[in-house]
Amino acid sequence: MSSRLIIAIDGYSSCGKSTVAKGLARKLGIHYIDSGAMYRAVTLYFLENNIPIPGPEELHDYVYDYSDVLRKINISFQFNPVSGFSEVYLNGRNVENEIRTMEINEQVSHVSAIKSVRAHLVKLQRDSANEGGLVMDGRDIGTTVFPDADLKIFMKADPMVRSERRYKELKSKGIEVLLEDVIQNVVGRDYEDSHREESPLRKAEDAIILDNTYLTHDEQVEFVIEAVRKLALSNSASS
Ligand code: DC
Repeated sequence: MSSRLIIAIDGYSSCGKSTVAKGLARKLGIHYIDSGAMYRAVTLYFLENNIPIPGPEELHDYVYDYSDVLRKINISFQFNPVSGFSEVYLNGRNVENEIRTMEINEQVSHVSAIKSVRAHLVKLQRDSANEGGLVMDGRDIGTTVFPDADLKIFMKADPMVRSERRYKELKSKGIEVLLEDVIQNVVGRDYEDSHREESPLRKAEDAIILDNTYLTHDEQVEFVIEAVRKLALSNSASS
């Protein structure tokens, strides 16, 4: 294992990837980066500045040049000592909560299918590894961003269980939503994320599957920690 340990966690929407990634980062004492938050922050910028967002059926023939827009978007993460995690900033403004609304949920898969947006964010994601080891979660981390990651986890869970988890999370934040709308959004995003042309969501061949339909948070973190231990053992045996 290199001193710069990179763990890629990919999987479907609302699988609890970020909860597992945060737990893991805390236990291992390394950084956590939520790549979905970066796509969400770009989506927020697009909505606030009326930047056109093509639907999946328009995307193929879309000619809009996003390079000027992307130059104006600065995304950074800052550690919040209260939550114990990094929060996402869009042009210097903390947008951690604003990027989690249903409005963003409805547009983010369209924005993340745009080739130039992906190229821009993949570069930022790779650059963030220069600062040391990290856990990053998303859809294409093990396949595109870090194809040589030390450990790749692919998370999945029953879509109904995932929708109910997301519904409870939104309700707990005081956001009024219907369960049917959450189910539609979760299933719709899974479809769009897996069928887009640019880096679609798919399991990397060397990724380990973690199906967390019936697992507690601690069991999931333990599952990944066990995989890290095995990796360390096999690396020390071969060195
Ligand atoms: O993980 P999340 O639900 O916050 O991600 C929001 C959206 O961003 C998701 O629907 C797909 C997109 N995304 C992506 O295309 N690639 C990533 N690496 C991370 C997220």
